[in-house]
Amino acid sequence: MLPLLILALVAAAQAQPFTVTHGVGAGEATTSTVVIWSRTDGAGAYMHVSMTAASSEPLAFVSDETTSANGDYTMRLVATGLAAATEYSYVVCFKAGTEPGCDGLDTGDGIFRTAAPKDVAAAVKIVWGGDLAGQDVCRDAQKGFPIFRPMADESADVGVLSGDMIYADNLCSATGLYGNAQVLGDFNQSANLEAFRAHWAYNRGDALFVEFLEGTQVLVAWDDHEIVNDAGPSHDTRPNRAAGDVDPEPPYAPDAKLTPLALQTMYEWNPFSATVEEPRHYGSFRYGKHVEIFRLDTRLYRDANLLNDTTYFNKTLLGIEQKLWLKNAIAESDATWIIVQSSVPLSIPTGSIRTGRDGWTNGDASSDGPNTATMGGFEQELLEIIDAFKAAGVKNTVWITADVHFAEVFEYPEWAPNFWEGVVGPLNAGLFPKQEFDMTLGGVQRRFGPFGPESFDASVELGYDEVLKWMNYGVLEISESGSLKISVKDVNGMPVYENTVEPMFQ
Ligand SMILES: *[C@@H]1O[C@H](CO)[C@@H](O)[C@H](O)[C@H]1NC(C)=O
Ligand SMILES: *[C@@H]1O[C@H](CO)[C@@H](O)[C@H](O)[C@H]1NC(C)=O
Ligand SMILES: *[C@@H]1O[C@H](CO)[C@@H](O)[C@H](O)[C@H]1NC(C)=O
Repeated sequence: MLPLLILALVAAAQAQPFTVTHGVGAGEATTSTVVIWSRTDGAGAYMHVSMTAASSEPLAFVSDETTSANGDYTMRLVATGLAAATEYSYVVCFKAGTEPGCDGLDTGDGIFRTAAPKDVAAAVKIVWGGDLAGQDVCRDAQKGFPIFRPMADESADVGVLSGDMIYADNLCSATGLYGNAQVLGDFNQSANLEAFRAHWAYNRGDALFVEFLEGTQVLVAWDDHEIVNDAGPSHDTRPNRAAGDVDPEPPYAPDAKLTPLALQTMYEWNPFSATVEEPRHYGSFRYGKHVEIFRLDTRLYRDANLLNDTTYFNKTLLGIEQKLWLKNAIAESDATWIIVQSSVPLSIPTGSIRTGRDGWTNGDASSDGPNTATMGGFEQELLEIIDAFKAAGVKNTVWITADVHFAEVFEYPEWAPNFWEGVVGPLNAGLFPKQEFDMTLGGVQRRFGPFGPESFDASVELGYDEVLKWMNYGVLEISESGSLKISVKDVNGMPVYENTVEPMFQ
């Protein structure tokens, strides 16, 4: 009797339809390919994707593999053979068989646009942002993550999610830092796969974020909080032993490395074509004649933050291979605008002297101390890269960054006629306004307006609704003629800073 009963139960389990648990997503779209992502609620399902565009026959794709607990029931597939500069709608479902079709099944759907060929002077719209659900500023019980409503309404060609898209080392309480009721996060700080996955699931559970991802294909990047604060491969344990910290607090175990867990779960939960086996995800994405986006990996290859940054040591943030790739790729690019995605900013110091600077700059113009190469940072490498941009004759470049939890636009006229940096964030996290920047690059500040709280501590007093006014994201709009409008927009989608720049041609 028993074996028969078990067989019957197995059959019943397989007959249960698979649902789409966290919406869908598309990313890394080129002229002919796109990565489609989704997730279901059980093992043994193939992901089916059907696509339609006004100008072409419907296309059907099915994943090579079936879902499993090993992949947290997520699935990604690369759809190929698409037409350039075309809007596609797609429908995703999961089922045990490989025959096409989603009839009668739970589905998720989305749209995306493929890139224009490089000889076509197409208009391109990019939105970018970072810093989501940090410092116990999480999904508001009523509003969710409200910033994604205006971001979805932008209907951009590409959304660049520029890191700290989870705070694996933070919690989400029922009452948040700013006193509002929040959706409770059922997780501890991330020291195992389950907790990292729970952080991704929490952020991806927000209806407005899902809506944004359904309508905008994305380029995802990571920063430190996908792993742990200020992490790199040689300092990715909690506590930070390189800085002399001892005594880990549970759930952190002494010297347990977090990067492998972080990388696996980030790839599981986002439309990357990279895999744990082939982890390289830095690379460039071209959108017609005017735009090429260079996505950097600022985490996987960096030296220890605490190392001295001297000209003879060649301390690296990108790692030698990525740095060489970047220098060569920008020299070869004939795009009007070189857009560099870097999770960490160029002139705003991050981290601290004690634990090592985490971003490019060592902060020698900040109040932390005197100008010395022993302050850490990765300035020598940054200067080397900028010199390579100069040598390659790059004229029009925008670095898009986040990480510091306030917005700022810089112009660097000493380095190139049209060299800009747009720093945005947070999408939804604590505010960390700073007034002091490192002037090594001679940055000219283009502040977006009066700034409210003067410190993180001051911001805590404001309450969530007041703080919301300072949440922001960035927009780059490149016209058919190649002019570029850079904007910082607030939680209502209202520009708080905007500037239109004409490209230099030669
Ligand atoms: C968080 O950690 C506490 C203490 O170790 C444990 O009791 C609890 O089950 C953990 N919660 C989750 C969701 O893992
Ligand atoms: C950095 O330089 C200082 C001053 O020269 C030196 O004392 C220190 O040991 C160096 N640190 C490392 C990690 O090399
Ligand atoms: C360090 O970088 C400089 C500048 O690019 C280069 O000339 C030098 O050869 C490098 N040194 C080492 C040891 O790689």
